[in-house]
Amino acid sequence: MSIKLEHVTYTYSPGTAYEMHALKDVSLEIPDGQFVGIIGHTGSGKSTLIQHLNGLIRPTEGRVLFDGQDVWAEGYDLRSLRSNVGLVFQYPEHQLFETDVLTDVCFGPKNQGCTPEECRERAEEALRHVGFPEQLYHKSPFELSGGQKRRVAIAGVLAMNPRVLVLDEPTAGLDPRGRDEILDQLKELHNTRGITVVLVSHSMEDIAKYVERIIVMNGGRMAFDGIPKEVFSHYKELEAMGLAAPQITYIMHALKEHGMDVDTNATTIEEAKASILAALEGRRKKPC
Ligand SMILES: Nc1ncnc2c1ncn2[C@@H]1O[C@H](COP(=O)(O)OP(=O)(O)OP(=O)(O)O)[C@@H](O)[C@H]1O
Ligand SMILES: [Mg+2]
Repeated sequence: MSIKLEHVTYTYSPGTAYEMHALKDVSLEIPDGQFVGIIGHTGSGKSTLIQHLNGLIRPTEGRVLFDGQDVWAEGYDLRSLRSNVGLVFQYPEHQLFETDVLTDVCFGPKNQGCTPEECRERAEEALRHVGFPEQLYHKSPFELSGGQKRRVAIAGVLAMNPRVLVLDEPTAGLDPRGRDEILDQLKELHNTRGITVVLVSHSMEDIAKYVERIIVMNGGRMAFDGIPKEVFSHYKELEAMGLAAPQITYIMHALKEHGMDVDTNATTIEEAKASILAALEGRRKKPC
């Protein structure tokens, strides 16, 4: 069970003066239950890539397979693919349009043919998952704060019970607290429901903290694909691509250069703290 891209190339406006090769020969597989991060400089092809995952755009060359089936083969049910793979666009709150929150979140399940009771159940469950307060269920989406709108929009996709949730910069423009809350809730959803999450983010700290695998895009190609430690160990190459490792990586390297025996592979604050404390402890024990 997986989503697979085989040698996917995507060209905007082919054969015109505006031709743009946004993806170049990208092959990857996302197995069920993974929490994957996609990073890359602006224009590197992240949004183009994720729109292939639910069949929103068709590769110019190459194939997209869902559970082993070519989603662009004749007769393939793209509607069912889009139910299985939920896509949350950047600034999804611009797509809220119903008169109240609950009706808005019910929109997806209603389209899937659920009864009004099922729609309501699914909508309430999805809103609980994103930590949206019950007393605001009957408010107009337009009266909500930015963070609340974002939660409603994510809940709208979750209510369709996707197996895979793909989010394009879900925390862009939110304050640090709102950002952490939303990402913590996504992680919890991944842990409890086993849902696959694909997260596009500009924040190395978020990526390092939440994901188990990082795909780095650069100029339409996949530059790296691996666990965070492995990818961040290429921090010099990442810099050359206009990216950077998490700040903690730089701190750990600086400490090492100044003679402290710390683990330069630490990518989260917790790991760094443990490594620094162990190094300090080691120093204390050394005979003078
Ligand atoms: N609709 C479009 N028509 C023509 N070119 C496009 C279109 N959408 C994107 N592009 C171009 O394709 C390339 C990849 O764009 P894409 O939006 O996938 O990048 P991105 O990594 O998501 O960038 P960002 O971080 O800014 O969101 C860019 O050069 C972009 O200008
Ligand atoms: Mg984008």
